[in-house]
Amino acid sequence: MNSLPVLRDAYLVMRDGIIEGFGPMSELKDEKLDNDVLVELDCSNRLVLPSYCDSHTHLVFAGTREKEFVDRINGLSYEEIAQRGGGILNSALMIESCSEEELFNSAMSRLHEVAMQGTGAVEIKSGYGLTTETELKMLRVIRRIKKDSPMVIKATFLGAHAMPQKYCDDRQKYIEMIIHEMLPVIAAEELADYIDVFCDKGFYTPLETEQILMAGVKYGLRPKIHANELGFTGGVQVGVKYNALSVDHLDYLSSEEIQTLKGTETMPTVLPGSAFFLGLPYSPVREMISAGLPVALASDYNPGSSPSGNMNFMSAMGCIKYKMTPEEAINATTINAAYAMGVEGICGSICTGKMGNVFITKELPGYANIPYHYASNLIETIILDGEII
Ligand code: NIG
Ligand code: FE
Repeated sequence: MNSLPVLRDAYLVMRDGIIEGFGPMSELKDEKLDNDVLVELDCSNRLVLPSYCDSHTHLVFAGTREKEFVDRINGLSYEEIAQRGGGILNSALMIESCSEEELFNSAMSRLHEVAMQGTGAVEIKSGYGLTTETELKMLRVIRRIKKDSPMVIKATFLGAHAMPQKYCDDRQKYIEMIIHEMLPVIAAEELADYIDVFCDKGFYTPLETEQILMAGVKYGLRPKIHANELGFTGGVQVGVKYNALSVDHLDYLSSEEIQTLKGTETMPTVLPGSAFFLGLPYSPVREMISAGLPVALASDYNPGSSPSGNMNFMSAMGCIKYKMTPEEAINATTINAAYAMGVEGICGSICTGKMGNVFITKELPGYANIPYHYASNLIETIILDGEII
C-alpha cells in the first residue's frame, strides 16, 4: 500500500492507445524523438499519473434528490427517508418514465465530468429500476456507454438495491423475480459483468443476499457487494463466502471482519463520498492496512448518498479522514480500484502494454499536493486510450 514507484525526468511513449514504453529521459532513443508521427507533450515540472479507476458508481440515474439532502439537514436519517419511500425508491420512480436516450445522455455528461477530474475506468451499477423492464433499460444504457465512451466501463447488476414497496409483505416474490426473470435475460444478452446486493440494515439480509449471489454465480457473474454501510450486517462474511471481487462501504468493520478478509481474493473498498455526505463513521482503514489488507477507494457516485464522482476528492478524503498516506491513497484509487473492477490487467498503473490512460497535472512540486489541495483541480491534460481529451 505504501510503496509508490516514481520516475523523475522520465519519458512515456504511447502508440495506438497502448503504453509502448517509459523510462529515464536519458534512455529515450533518438528515433522516438525524431518520429513525426508522434505528438510530443512537454511535461516538465509536472506529474504524469495513471488515470483513476472508480470501481463503484451508480452514475446512470434520473433526477436529483436535494429534497432528501435538506430533510437530512433537518434531522431525518438516510434509513428514515428510505422507510418513507424516499431514497432509492424515489430514484426508481424518476427513472421509470425516463427514456433510454435521456438516461444515456445524462450519464455520458457525468462521465465526461469525471474524465476531466482524472478518471479513466468506471464501474456502473443498475439498481434504480427494480422491475425487470427498467433494470434491463439501465443495463442497456450501460452497454451503450461501453461502446461510445473512451473510458473502460464495467456493468454490475444490482436488482437487489432496495425492496420495491409492493413486495414489502412478500419479499421472496421479488427475490424470485430477480433470480428467475431478470438474471436469465441479463445472462443471455450479456448485459452485466458482476452482480451486487445491498446487504444492509433495512435492505437485504445475508440470507437473501446469499440466494441472489448463488444464482448470479451460476450465470457466471462474480459478486461485488454493498456491505456494512449502516451497521454490522454480515455482508462481509457473505461476500467472502462467495469470493466477491470486492466488498464495498465498510463504514462499520470489526476486527473479526478484518480477519475474515485476510488472505482472500476480495478487495475491501471504502467509499469516502457517502461517509462524508451522510455523516457515517469512517472505516478503520489504518487498522485494515496494519492487518495487511489492501484497500481500494471509490466514489459511489449516486444521487442519494454521494452526488460526486471526483476521485481527487476521494483520495484527499483518504488522506484527511482515513489517515492514509498520499502513496496509499494513490494506490487505492488506481491499481487497487482497478483490481476491484477486474481491469488491473489493462488499467490502474503506468505499465508497458496497458492502456494509454493517464493524466498530467499542472506544474507541481510533488504528488502530495493533489490531496493537499483537496478542492482544487490540479489536472491540466487528460489522455484516454492514447488520445488527448
Ligand atoms: O452505495 N448503499 C446503497 N446504494 C447507494 C445509495 C443509493 C441511493 O441512495 O440512491 C450507496 O450509498
Ligand atoms: Fe453504492
